[in-house]
Amino acid sequence: MATHFLTGAGSGIGAATAELLTARGDRLWLLARDQHTADRLREQFPTCRTVVADLAEPAALAAALAGPDAPARLDSLLHVAGVADWGPVGDSDHELWDRTLTVNLLAPAELTRLLLPALRAAHGHVVFMNSGAGLHAPPGLGAYAASKFALKALAESLRAEEHPHRVRVTTVYPGEVDTPMQRRLHARFQLEFDPSVCLTPQSVASALATVLDHPHDGTMSDLMLRPGG
Ligand SMILES: NC(=O)c1ccc[n+]([C@@H]2O[C@H](COP(=O)([O-])OP(=O)(O)OC[C@H]3O[C@@H](n4cnc5c(N)ncnc54)[C@H](OP(=O)(O)O)[C@@H]3O)[C@@H](O)[C@H]2O)c1
Repeated sequence: MATHFLTGAGSGIGAATAELLTARGDRLWLLARDQHTADRLREQFPTCRTVVADLAEPAALAAALAGPDAPARLDSLLHVAGVADWGPVGDSDHELWDRTLTVNLLAPAELTRLLLPALRAAHGHVVFMNSGAGLHAPPGLGAYAASKFALKALAESLRAEEHPHRVRVTTVYPGEVDTPMQRRLHARFQLEFDPSVCLTPQSVASALATVLDHPHDGTMSDLMLRPGG
């Protein structure tokens, strides 16, 4: 039975991933931003364990993960939580850049650092949920795209560094997915939302499971996922 540490399980892609992994009997550690969310997640996924930490405060992650109850072995660390705020560069203040880079980049870097011993112990797998915007930056999402471009760099350095420890690293780049984040962005861009042209969160979760289940003689290092057949 595999053990995974997952961020973002409260919504969208993360929730679908938690559902899929729970259904197949895997053990989950779920990061929740506050106690209320942790309680809700334990009700929804009764076999999971929770860690309360706000990814907007990466410096507090070490304390949240300290203690005898912290995971000693992890088969995977799944960085799914993220934020995306609309904002042309000319209108994006320091606060927007700070929040976006902190949650999408600095927190995953710190969480990875803290959980690497547990991942090395199990020859585990780090998966970063990136975005098409991490390869081609669209207008109106400069801070988000910058955070995802940098997340790609983090993944590539980590992959090379951890190869001797047999820790695998994958970046997943989905196109538009029908989640609360995507619906909020469409509203902000004043675009009509059509879920039928989006990936479902379940489809992205299924791709994540495929990445994890790949035989250990190889790694799916980068996975592009586009809507449509
Ligand atoms: N939707 C898309 O079209 C799309 C496309 C490509 C990539 N992605 C990426 O996929 C990932 C998941 O996105 P989604 O669409 O599923 O978004 P979502 O429905 O908005 O869910 C985002 C999750 O991140 C968590 N989160 C945000 N800020 C946090 C913080 N400060 N501390 C702890 N948790 C925090 C949220 O927690 P709460 O539940 O507590 O709010 C929520 O569970 C993101 O990395 C996103 O960039 C999405």
